[in-house]
Amino acid sequence: MSSSENKSASQTILSPGRVNLLGEHVDYNDGPVLPVAIDLTLTLEFSPLEQNLITLHALDLGQSTIFSLDNLENKTDLEGKPLPHFARYPAGVAWACQKAGLPVRGLEASYTSNIPIGSGLSSSAAVEVAFAQAFKALGGWEVDRMTLVKLTKKAENEYVGVNSGIMDQFAVMFGQKDHALYLDTATLDWEAVPLSEDVAIIVADSREPRELAGSAYNDRRAACEAAVEHLRQYLPGITSLRDVFPAPYEKYSGNLPERIRMRGQHIVDEIARVEESVKLLKVGDIAGFGKLMIQGHESLRDLYEVSTPELNALVEIALQQPGCYGARLTGAGFGGCTVNLVRNEEAGAFLRHVKAQYHQRTGKSASLYHCHATDGAHLI
Ligand code: GLA
Repeated sequence: MSSSENKSASQTILSPGRVNLLGEHVDYNDGPVLPVAIDLTLTLEFSPLEQNLITLHALDLGQSTIFSLDNLENKTDLEGKPLPHFARYPAGVAWACQKAGLPVRGLEASYTSNIPIGSGLSSSAAVEVAFAQAFKALGGWEVDRMTLVKLTKKAENEYVGVNSGIMDQFAVMFGQKDHALYLDTATLDWEAVPLSEDVAIIVADSREPRELAGSAYNDRRAACEAAVEHLRQYLPGITSLRDVFPAPYEKYSGNLPERIRMRGQHIVDEIARVEESVKLLKVGDIAGFGKLMIQGHESLRDLYEVSTPELNALVEIALQQPGCYGARLTGAGFGGCTVNLVRNEEAGAFLRHVKAQYHQRTGKSASLYHCHATDGAHLI
């Protein structure tokens, strides 16, 4: 194909990052979550190839690679070398689509993103969902968005090897301008909940590396499973912590090893908080919503133990600022970002003061972003 033909056939997908307002670590416990797609964005440009190959240019990394669609399970490039890490996300999505019987056509893709990498804002889900949309556009398949979400999650879990829940891929796919997304991760029923125009979403990136994130994340998952196993003696019908309300948990969790009891306590309380918070959001009670965010952070810090001194400092500083309704760590934790809800008029001062005071207190430099709830991944 000549380059002019190539150009005319090229298409572009925008794919957002996400923050989670409430419902942390509950998506792998069948609980409800409340994420927002945000206007930090991955831009993917792609055009079809005649050959059964994927050519990738990760512009921000300055890296390119080529691999075949005929032997994706090998995770190797065309020369037989292991696929570079960045290529595993697109390759994993292609692999999951093929497994589902959806034919994947060859393509050449270039992408760039201003979603900070490894900060817990779902930069990898943005890549996965963008490629799922690209494969769908070229394959001409009639599949719904939730099916694509499940395929991208499968790619992340089984091909990349990260045992995450469904929240990130869902939020990146289903984002809606000016809305938060309430998702029941057990039934996959969801609803877009309007966000007040008077409130700014401010994300503060501690820029601390999340080195232990993988193993600690799996450790928390295992603790939740152990809690369910134990509680089944008293509550035989349960399949996840979602099935356990705070009162029975209180009654039956006494004999659990302390660490496991604490992890489970966070989950049952956090699920109750999400249910309550949605009601508050719907009636515009941002102050009440913010209080639940603060409780959520305390629980992640003290019971689930996934916070860091830097994230705690960001939250404490945020809560001292005028017009801040709520602040908490967002995503898996172990580093990464906080999310803050701040009265609009106060947003500019908040950005300046939190950055300065965090630097004063820790000697470190945070990145702050004034974000807006935005639409999910789509062709433009
Ligand atoms: C990561 C995972 C999500 C979710 C959050 C914690 O972002 O990818 O599935 O478990 O952590 O809420």
